[in-house]
Amino acid sequence: MIHIQDLETPIVLVDEDKLKANILRMQKKADKAGVYLRPHIKTHKSKYIADLQMKAGAIGVTASKSSEAAVFIEHGIRSVTLAYPLVERRKIRRLLELAKLHICQLNFICDSRYGFDTIKDVCHQSRFEAAIFLKIDVGLNRCGFDPDNKKVLKMARVIHNDKYLRLAGLLAHEGNSYGAENAKKARKFCKNAIQVLRALKYRIEQEYIPVPDLSIGSTPGALATKRFRAITEIRPGNYVFMDRTPIRLGLAKERDVALTVTSTIVSENKNYYICDAGSKILSSDTGGHGKNNIEGFGLVFPMNTYPDTSKNLLLEKLSEEHGFIVKNKNTKLNIGDKIRIIPNHACAVVNLVNTLYLVKGDVFLKTISVSARGKSI
Ligand SMILES: Cc1ncc(COP(=O)(O)O)c(C=O)c1O
Repeated sequence: MIHIQDLETPIVLVDEDKLKANILRMQKKADKAGVYLRPHIKTHKSKYIADLQMKAGAIGVTASKSSEAAVFIEHGIRSVTLAYPLVERRKIRRLLELAKLHICQLNFICDSRYGFDTIKDVCHQSRFEAAIFLKIDVGLNRCGFDPDNKKVLKMARVIHNDKYLRLAGLLAHEGNSYGAENAKKARKFCKNAIQVLRALKYRIEQEYIPVPDLSIGSTPGALATKRFRAITEIRPGNYVFMDRTPIRLGLAKERDVALTVTSTIVSENKNYYICDAGSKILSSDTGGHGKNNIEGFGLVFPMNTYPDTSKNLLLEKLSEEHGFIVKNKNTKLNIGDKIRIIPNHACAVVNLVNTLYLVKGDVFLKTISVSARGKSI
């Protein structure tokens, strides 16, 4: 039996019980609300965790990158939504070929005439069929049609009338919930997304164009909301691990967080304990979507008191290979001590390592490969 105390640092730990509990909780929530769950795998990029999600009842997965999606299509996931506006022919063709080979139902999103024409051209040239979600901006101001843009109806009609294309529905990401002050506000952002998609669906269907699916997704939105009304699927990703954003919003407790970084105190000075986890393992992220509303770069727990919040310290600054932990009278650390860190943004941490260390309590179980790591295209 190997104790986590005996593992070299810095490494990324995933607590199996917490991971499974988070997966099950979200699945139960979706089941109870009558919506499908299509988790975003950019959080874990791991076949092992995707399998746990599918086994629990997910209908498929969501991916951002075409090469990331390819890993999961080849792995045998039978339904994948590429929730990123692809505007390059090669990516679209490669994915369609792969999906056909592996009998995978593939959905694209589109938020421009250029994107639509690119998907259409590939499908017409290769005689591939494709399903397209129209991406709608519900307040993040990133991608997506403005819901009031007349082009939405026009695009819906063009897709509907195309021989090779099918309108899958409307898709939105209420990522503005990352900037919410509390759970109530996060719920408000999610409700707004639901309302916007419902109203648009109604307008489009008045023109006799069916809008089968309404898809929204974010961890804060999904955790904060009970009823999703006309929504047919949700796509949270981060919920499998959680991190300081759901904690900050009051949507999760420190004890719910499944992913931590272990580190060793390697030095100290007047103000700081210095640990061996820096920006190369924790990332410099201060919360999703650049919202910059989390203080410092991680919550630090002495190994033996994790996750007791009365003993935690703040990781205030980062160098590449060093973390600066603010000294405090309540919690004394010594050089050589091991610590556990709850990171600001778990998805960004996973993206920095090849391997996750699965643990049960304080016992190391096995390693998990971050299979889709480095799939940047
Ligand atoms: C399009 C899309 N859907 C779903 C998600 C999942 O959201 P979260 O990371 O909050 O779970 C994201 C996250 O960035 C996203 O961009």
